[in-house]
Order: sequence, then C-alpha cells, then structure tokens
Amino acid sequence: MTIIELRNIYRKKLNLSHNECDFIYKIILEELCSIDPIKIALDPHCIINQDSKKIILDSLDPISKNYPIDYLINKKNFYGYDFYVNEDVLIPRPETEELVQWVLEDNININKSKKLIDLCSGSGCIGITIYKENKNMDVTLSDVSEKALEICNKNKIKLASNVKTIKLDLNSKFLPQNKYDIIVSNPPYLSPNEANEIGKNVKYEPETALFAPSNDPLHYYKRIIEFALINLNKKGQIYLEINPVFIKDFNQLLSDFNLNDVNFRDDFRGKKRLVKVSF
Ligand SMILES: C[S@@+](CC[C@H](N)C(=O)[O-])C[C@H]1O[C@@H](n2cnc3c(N)ncnc32)[C@H](O)[C@@H]1O
Repeated sequence: MTIIELRNIYRKKLNLSHNECDFIYKIILEELCSIDPIKIALDPHCIINQDSKKIILDSLDPISKNYPIDYLINKKNFYGYDFYVNEDVLIPRPETEELVQWVLEDNININKSKKLIDLCSGSGCIGITIYKENKNMDVTLSDVSEKALEICNKNKIKLASNVKTIKLDLNSKFLPQNKYDIIVSNPPYLSPNEANEIGKNVKYEPETALFAPSNDPLHYYKRIIEFALINLNKKGQIYLEINPVFIKDFNQLLSDFNLNDVNFRDDFRGKKRLVKVSF
C-alpha cells in the first residue's frame, strides 16, 4: 500500500476534517514509523512496509475514540523539551508552562543555589524544566504515585537532569524534613462536577491527577500550605496553578492562613489560574 493510499484511508475512517486527519497522519508517520511526512507530497506512491502499515492502521481505532495522540506517541513537548508520557501521568498543559515561566522570571539573576520542590510532579515537567533552564535550582520532584515517579525518573534520564525524586503523599502527616526556598505545584484541582465539561480525551488521564475530593475542591491547596508552614524557608514562595472556578474560596483559604502577600496571574485564556504566595 502507498503512503497516499494510507492517507486516504485515514481521511475516510476518521470523523475529522481533512486537515485534522492529515495533521495526525503526519505525526504517526514521523513518530511511530520514522517516515518523513514530506514523502506524502514528494513521493506519494512510495510503498509503506508491512510493519508501518500495521502501525498506521492500528492507530485508527484509538484515534477515533479520542485517545490522546500524546499517549500514542509517548511524547509531549513542554517548554521546548520532549517529555515521555503515558497513561500514568497527566499530559502537561500549556497553562503550566506559564507557571514555570513565572518561577524562572523571578529567579533569573540568582547566583546562590535555591532548593525547590515540585509537589504533585506527575511527568516531572515543571521541576525538570525549571532545572534545565536554571542550573542554580536544586530541584526535588515528588508525587504519591509510584508510577508517576517512574516516569519522572525516565524523564530525568531522557533530559539529563540532576534532580531528586521522592514519594510524598500530601494526605500524610508532614514531618520537618528538608527545607525548601520554593514550592511549586499543579495539584489535582478539578471538581467532579466539571467532569462533563472537560474534553473527551481527558477520560484517558489518571483520575487521581485530575480530581480533588468532591466535598473539598481546595483540599490539596490546604495541604500544600500546611506543608509550607513546616518545610518552607523564611521569605520563601509558593507558586500554584489553581482552578479559576474556586477563586473566591481560594482567597478565603489564604486569609484563613493569614497569607496576604499574594499575586495572581491570568493564563493565556485570560483566566485567573496562577498564583504566587510569598511568606
Ligand atoms: C494535575 S497532576 C499534575 C502533574 C504535573 N505536575 C503537571 O503539571 O503536568 C497532579 C498530580 O498529583 C498527584 N497526586 C494526587 N494525589 C496526591 C497526593 N495525595 N499526594 C501527592 N501527589 C498526589 C497525581 O499523582 C498527579 O501526578
């Protein structure tokens, strides 16, 4: 079968526009078959070997069921770095790049090492990117999920990053351990009521990465602040991604803890999604 015949099967079988089909087909060719997609235009009648043909045809079913392409190719670009991802971790989001950007901006001129912990690290995209962009950051990645920590370790090697990984359950009792100068986190923050509003492909991502407890959408923020009260150095900062839906309750939470040095930032969609709390 030729490259153009397979492209036409893609167009026929997927309930998407030709542009969308072609976009996905090119990613599959390049990432899973190591075939340069330019061949579709330059050599449309080139024969695709049996192995690649099988990969291409097998990809139709998951794609038609909205399975995320990033999981299919085990890759997501975040802040210019290719992270390994699979169903054990959340697919890094562009909003989170803005959180990373904020931490980097605030620490551009430091000449002394700072200790930073990424709580709820998932794939490790936040902490690893911060380390790659600022070698003065002494970074620890932490998550409750052993499987997520395995992916962190995989990405640590893939991206040659000298970061530590530790298992840390935000629901456990915190003991004074290492002190940090910066805490950064994108914890699970969706309320189960929002499950219907989020994209169809989100159903393939780990529920524990997405949802906060139904009766307490700010649960993880409370726990992060409690962690900070024990393990954050004086004059330290917490950078968080938050759910804009609960902004009023979030403000209340901060004032319950007497935290008033607070800055919010809008994400690229104009939603109040990022916050910095200075201690
Ligand atoms: C929204 S994902 C964020 C992943 C990554 N930081 C990112 O931005 O792509 C939340 C992460 O919190 C972790 N998590 C869930 N419950 C936790 C807990 N009790 N303690 C620590 N981490 C937890 C999940 O395993 C998941 O990796």
